Amino acid sequence: MLHKGVQSKTIKGLRRLTARWNAASEMDSIVAGHRGRRMNKWGHYFEIYDRHFAPFRDQNIVVVEIGVQAGGSLDLWRSYFGPKAKIVGIDIDPKCKDFESSNTFVRLGSQGDDAFLESIAREFGPLDIVIEDGSHAFEHQIGTFRALFPHIRPGGIYACEDLCSSYWVPEFGGGVRKPGTGIEFFKTLIDELNAWYSSDTVDAEPDALAKQLFGIHFHPALAVIEKRAMNRPVLVPVGKTES
Ligand SMILES: C[S@@+](CC[C@H](N)C(=O)[O-])C[C@H]1O[C@@H](n2cnc3c(N)ncnc32)[C@H](O)[C@@H]1O
Repeated sequence: MLHKGVQSKTIKGLRRLTARWNAASEMDSIVAGHRGRRMNKWGHYFEIYDRHFAPFRDQNIVVVEIGVQAGGSLDLWRSYFGPKAKIVGIDIDPKCKDFESSNTFVRLGSQGDDAFLESIAREFGPLDIVIEDGSHAFEHQIGTFRALFPHIRPGGIYACEDLCSSYWVPEFGGGVRKPGTGIEFFKTLIDELNAWYSSDTVDAEPDALAKQLFGIHFHPALAVIEKRAMNRPVLVPVGKTES
């Protein structure tokens, strides 16, 4: 969710709309029953996360969330993934250090600092899931993906929350199709994913990123990217042709 203090008319309107959130998945049920530390996420994220994260439950996985704030989302990941998951929160606010507990770690530093993100990858990687819910500044959304996606294990997931910042003009300098925004960057990954088919690369090897993108899912304000080792797609003609 967005920074405290960012309270434009648009955001208030959106909050009213999401008040109609209906619990639909197991993660929704956990959230609906959550009574502890505050968590701030758009209500529709939980069903989407449940769809992508369910196979990771009760496994020895590493989950990194950028943006800890009040610690409630760390609690959600613990409840959802179970005790075997290593949960790593990243924030610039030293208060977040208080939210460390068994198998839950908090590291203080800026997502804008590539060396810091590398140190996270060295300490905890390879990573299974990265959830980016930090500053929502475009350069951070883009830079954090570039820094951490290479450290995700094949089969893992990268999620970037609150891409709505790309559309918010006064708060973030966004705008529809405005160059340089987070959403415009994530849209470019669609071409990477399809590099196998483009005339530039059809006879050549696509770059490393294209070979790691299995799926990109766009939802309101959220992009979920599935990483997998990809080979050149092959056509599989089976069955008889009509003569
Ligand atoms: C939207 S809140 C996180 C909310 C939390 N994930 C949740 O779901 O309840 C954003 C957090 O990102 C942190 N933050 C802001 N700029 C940051 C940066 N450059 N690097 C890391 N964290 C940052 C803020 O201190 C704040 O705690």
